[in-house]
Amino acid sequence: MPEYFVVRGTVESGDKRGRELGFPTANIALRDQAGSLGDGVWAGWVGRAAGARIPAAISVGRRPTYYGADGYRLLEAHLLDFSGDLYGETLVVWLGSHLREQEKYASAEDLITALKSDIAAAAQWTAAHPAASLPEPGESALGEVRRIAG
Ligand SMILES: Cc1cc2nc3c(=O)[nH]c(=O)nc-3n(C[C@H](O)[C@H](O)[C@H](O)COP(=O)(O)O)c2cc1C
Repeated sequence: MPEYFVVRGTVESGDKRGRELGFPTANIALRDQAGSLGDGVWAGWVGRAAGARIPAAISVGRRPTYYGADGYRLLEAHLLDFSGDLYGETLVVWLGSHLREQEKYASAEDLITALKSDIAAAAQWTAAHPAASLPEPGESALGEVRRIAG
């Protein structure tokens, strides 16, 4: 039985670097800055307000490539094969498989190389764990991380 970390949150505006890198992200503030959910990169699913569920590669952490260790900790989801505006929308994020730790990359190119492999891994994991198999998210406060058995 897989286990999921589940977070509901409203998409905030980021610094738009994701778009420049070619990998836009939906940014969600986490309530608990220490938390049981550690920093890292995950494969998972994003549920939109109207019910659609979209595969995603998800980063939790402080973006050490750009901000150093004291950066603001947030969740950023890159939705696979998706284009559209999510600002202000309340999403549900299921983090299903831990792919790697957050790394401080020497260059944007190195980060992009890592992102491509994260996306390939997330595509593979979501294909094996379809949206219909996700546990119900239930109710929770925005930005609150919960652990739910699959
Ligand atoms: C799947 C994924 C993995 C990421 N991994 C890292 C990482 O290891 N190190 C890092 O500094 N930032 C990582 N990031 C965050 C990027 O630095 C961030 O998306 C980019 O700076 C854009 O930020 P913005 O949305 O505020 O514009 C990752 C983002 C995604 C979507």
